[in-house]
Amino acid sequence: MPTTAHDFRRPPGPDSTVALGIDPATLGILQKLQREYGDIVSIEKPSGRLAYFINDPAEVRRILVRRHTRYVKGPGFERVKMLLGNGLIVSDGDVWRRSRTMIQPAFKVQNVHRLMRVMVQCTERRAAAWAKAIENNQLINITKETSEFSLELILITIFGSDYENKIMASGENPFAFLSRDSTRDLSVVMKVRDLRKMLLAIIAERRDRDVDEFDFLSMYMQATDKSGVHFTDKELLDELMTLIVAGFETSANTLNWAWYLIAGHPEVEAKLIAEAKASLPSVAAVNSDNAAAMTYTQQVLEEVLRLYPPVWLFTRRASEDDELEEYDVPTGTDIYLSPYVLHRSEHIWSNPDAFDPDRFETDGKPKRDRPYFPFSLGPRRCLGEYFSFLEMKVHIGLLVARFRLERVGSADPVLELAINLRSKNDILLRPSLRQD
Ligand code: HEM
Repeated sequence: MPTTAHDFRRPPGPDSTVALGIDPATLGILQKLQREYGDIVSIEKPSGRLAYFINDPAEVRRILVRRHTRYVKGPGFERVKMLLGNGLIVSDGDVWRRSRTMIQPAFKVQNVHRLMRVMVQCTERRAAAWAKAIENNQLINITKETSEFSLELILITIFGSDYENKIMASGENPFAFLSRDSTRDLSVVMKVRDLRKMLLAIIAERRDRDVDEFDFLSMYMQATDKSGVHFTDKELLDELMTLIVAGFETSANTLNWAWYLIAGHPEVEAKLIAEAKASLPSVAAVNSDNAAAMTYTQQVLEEVLRLYPPVWLFTRRASEDDELEEYDVPTGTDIYLSPYVLHRSEHIWSNPDAFDPDRFETDGKPKRDRPYFPFSLGPRRCLGEYFSFLEMKVHIGLLVARFRLERVGSADPVLELAINLRSKNDILLRPSLRQD
């Protein structure tokens, strides 16, 4: 591969240095660079490091799928290390490969199906809260509701009965602080330390009691690598924190935007209600076949994830030399990939800012090569994708048929672009019971 300064094939880009973070300013910068220089832009950072912003679907795929072994996680991930230690999302190389192989079986479709009853149970708790809000003539804070739903769900699917008995023993959820961008706040160090202590006590007690529960903690504790070795307590803690952080805010934010969009699109709402009534006969009888039949709800969620991908920007760093179709990628180059920018690119999606679930109608065609990657692609693709679609379908399906949520005011929510894409302010909606 040509690597001398002489024949180095560098993508177009600005002459002056550009600082990039994971923040709103960076989104504006990346969109402007794409408009000016095209879908592969080279940037020199103030540190002198070379970075590429890649918005070309085929090249994104090349980096995440075919050439993934030439890249490690890039800038931004160090901020979450405080919470996640060396868990799956931040680890690389052999450590990542061993953990992924040990954890992947827990996410098998049959296992996720066994957790569906928790999805129904957590949805029904929201239904009770919404009914109470209607009785009291109150608005619903949908941002808070979806956050409580997803947090409770991930904690019960991980800890089973230890959630009520140990985690909620004081009456307050000790993980609730995670719903704000806690990685910037150093005061969370103490909170994280306390949480890890509590989780260690739960693990120790499970080892002593030889507990037979079906939950992620049991599956993780039973997992072994190819030499038959289990996770150490430290590894287990890192993986549990990773699972909570990865599985909670992403789904919560998607549902927050979903309810907001549904409330503004009566034609979509009507189709969702019709499908929910046909597919989910009763709360007690919800099963995986019902959820599989909810193809329109799936389209709606895919469209929500196109417009508001929770992981709106992520990074890699080249750990060895690589090349794109037309350009060289020297070792050490930072790669910026943005589902948000790609999903809203006019030359890739028609009318990209419009909410139109019909664009995800598959007509039985394979979905594989879509210019779309809210869950990333390749071997590091999200492990919780199936879990999250199931949880979101159960949640929307069971609630949309019973509750009408209307927008209050006409201003669109402002985006907050941190590690996750969320609404800057909580979204309030007016609930009422459906009459039919
Ligand atoms: C709408 C919901 C979700 C979205 C959009 C989402 C998105 C993502 C993305 C983009 C990544 C890859 C990040 C990167 O490689 O830099 C990822 C990784 C991951 N996600 Fe999700 N996620 C969601 C829900 C979940 C849920 C519910 C769980 C668990 C129950 C989960 C568990 C994980 C794990 C363990 C990884 C790390 C995989 C690895 O590095 O091997 N996610 N997710």
